[in-house]
Amino acid sequence: MTQDELKLAVAQAAIAYVVEGEIVGVGTGSTANFFIDELAKIKHKVKAAVASSEATAARLRGHGITVLDLNEVTSMPVYVDGADEITAQGAMIKGGGAALTREKIVASVAQKFICIADGSKLVQLLGKFPLPVEVIPMAHAVVARKLNSLGGEARLRLKDGQPLLTDNGNMILDVHGLQIADPQALEATINNIVGVVTVGLFAKQGADVCLLGTSEGVKTLVF
Ligand code: A5P
Repeated sequence: MTQDELKLAVAQAAIAYVVEGEIVGVGTGSTANFFIDELAKIKHKVKAAVASSEATAARLRGHGITVLDLNEVTSMPVYVDGADEITAQGAMIKGGGAALTREKIVASVAQKFICIADGSKLVQLLGKFPLPVEVIPMAHAVVARKLNSLGGEARLRLKDGQPLLTDNGNMILDVHGLQIADPQALEATINNIVGVVTVGLFAKQGADVCLLGTSEGVKTLVF
């Protein structure tokens, strides 16, 4: 099976977790896009969606799905999103698509985080995928120095030769070379650096379920 076929398979499997008549939180990225396209097929069964990025909001609206501002929402049974890496304990690295802050905010409102990922995302140790950190632009250099002192090598993410700006108008530092043995501790440490908006470690509040696409079918990991 191709990676896209695996992504489609987990996106289809995630539909079973969508609660009828309720609001669904929707992540960002290529796997989440497959989920959005599947959600469109049952859109009459959901009340509305909350999006974790402008790109996701546009795709949802393109399918005629109502997108609500998170401030209007108090209850959300599930949030469905991909991951860049996930451990067998449900800790994740996210933010390859630069949407980590909104993803973490929307996920914090949901009762359950359903991670959808192809099998290549399952790792024993987080960190091979560079860890994204969203930073306030005026602080990117000082934050990079502090991240380097933790043992990584922080590089400013560029787009067309310029610093990439997130939906929130901030920048992203990608930290290379980390071996993250204690994701919860590192999440807290990086979140405490002045100038950091969010770190793309989802460990304190990780996934509740991971639907993992493999050549033997979709495996369900429950944490
Ligand atoms: C977006 O910022 C990310 O957190 C994505 O969820 C993550 O990068 C996974 O993306 P893919 O589904 O495209 O691999």
